[in-house]
Amino acid sequence: MLARNDNQQLFLYRQVIDLVRQMQQQGTLRAGDKLPSLRNMASRLQVSVPTIKQAYQELERQGFIQAREKSGYFLRASSQSQNKLKKPRLNSKPTQVSRQQLIEQVYQGIHQPGNLALGISNPTAALSTQKAITRALRRASNNDTLSPFSYGPSYGCLPLRQHIAQHYFSQGLQANPEDIIVTNGAQEAISLALRAIAKPGDVIAVESPCYFGILETIESLGMLALELPLCAEDGLLPDDVRKAISRHKVKAVMISTSISNPLGSWLTEERKRAMVSLLEDAGIPLIEDDAYGDLYFGPVRGKAAQYYSQKGLVISCSSFSKTAAPSLRIGWLLAPGFTASLQRLKRAYSQSSSMLSQATLIEYLRGGEYERYLRQLRQVLQTNKERMISLLQRELGEQVRISDPKGGCVLWLEFPKAMDTNLLFQQLLAEQISVTPGVLFSATDRYRHCLRLSFGLTWDAGIETGLQTFSTLARNTLDSLSC
Ligand SMILES: Cc1ncc(COP(=O)(O)O)c(C=O)c1O
Repeated sequence: MLARNDNQQLFLYRQVIDLVRQMQQQGTLRAGDKLPSLRNMASRLQVSVPTIKQAYQELERQGFIQAREKSGYFLRASSQSQNKLKKPRLNSKPTQVSRQQLIEQVYQGIHQPGNLALGISNPTAALSTQKAITRALRRASNNDTLSPFSYGPSYGCLPLRQHIAQHYFSQGLQANPEDIIVTNGAQEAISLALRAIAKPGDVIAVESPCYFGILETIESLGMLALELPLCAEDGLLPDDVRKAISRHKVKAVMISTSISNPLGSWLTEERKRAMVSLLEDAGIPLIEDDAYGDLYFGPVRGKAAQYYSQKGLVISCSSFSKTAAPSLRIGWLLAPGFTASLQRLKRAYSQSSSMLSQATLIEYLRGGEYERYLRQLRQVLQTNKERMISLLQRELGEQVRISDPKGGCVLWLEFPKAMDTNLLFQQLLAEQISVTPGVLFSATDRYRHCLRLSFGLTWDAGIETGLQTFSTLARNTLDSLSC
């Protein structure tokens, strides 16, 4: 119970604040943990619910806890206001990409049995869908109307395209299922989108840092990447896009619609709208990568850029890999202005996507668990994020800046410039820990001191030990630099 006399009565909420802070210091509450509900705390401390609410709101204002829609209040990793990531200063010119050898090593590290896979962005590993998808697979195998063992239409199964259209409808966009093309993951969607509008030697403006799968696709198509700086908090600024298209002959701009990989930045609706209108006025197609759109941590989902399109120059790419199972390899394209050419390309390059995967997904979506699963997954990912940030801050302190992702499942770490994360990556592999070195996220060497870590994992003692090993090796490397 809290101490009270007449004077203190007014400040009861301050005592609640002190108590929560004490619980954090003593380790009773850890980053990512849920605080007792308002009612529960009020009855434990024998004060009123409004007093607890006032205290929680103040703690939220201070950035100490976070309110989550319909879930309550959660302890955050300690505030990083002193140590925020800055927007990179880029003097970009179109650049040829070449990172193949290192990418192969990263994938080997990820797939090596027994390795701690901090290098892979697989959010569903944090909350497995295996049982539900296995049940759906069984139902799909017996559903002859979906022809799961046959060749299928190049643009995909109609019930799946209808489901994807409903997904857009819930964002206020009326998409015609006829304009949706089912692909082999977002990766194929991006590749087909690039082929549909650009040719070798053309310049594609991308975010920087940029997901390495996009850079590798640009490389494989012989196109050039023009890197535009991302703000860690706000994503791409329309002004930077305006400057880039006035200085270079940009054939297409590729952006993450809501949540970027690796920064986890969030593009606001105003900026998205401005970006679409700027590019459509200039006659430049916008390819949006919305693979992480459903994994937002704020109160609402960001809309697809397609929603703001007036002239049909937006090509939307997305996927079920981050929200159902990457192994199904099912993504999609929605591009009313390019449907015919994209359908032709899909047929030419992969004929169709697996009917068994599509049928499984249809059965899974019909099962009705998907939305609930997504809500739970977002909660688990947020808790993991806070735990990982807290542990890294404790172990590495001021020696590292850490992103504060607005969704998704990865953290971006920035060490002092002298750090070489390629070397750290090799040392970590020897310890059976896979991470993704920063150089992969640019066509240049500009992120050699950075690194991406995934919190898309089932949190357990093994992860904490792995992160401690990671921190020890990182500290040793930093110490050797200052000698
Ligand atoms: C930003 C981004 N876009 C696209 C993809 C590819 O997604 P998919 O597995 O559906 O091909 C990924 C996968 O990691 C990604 O992180």
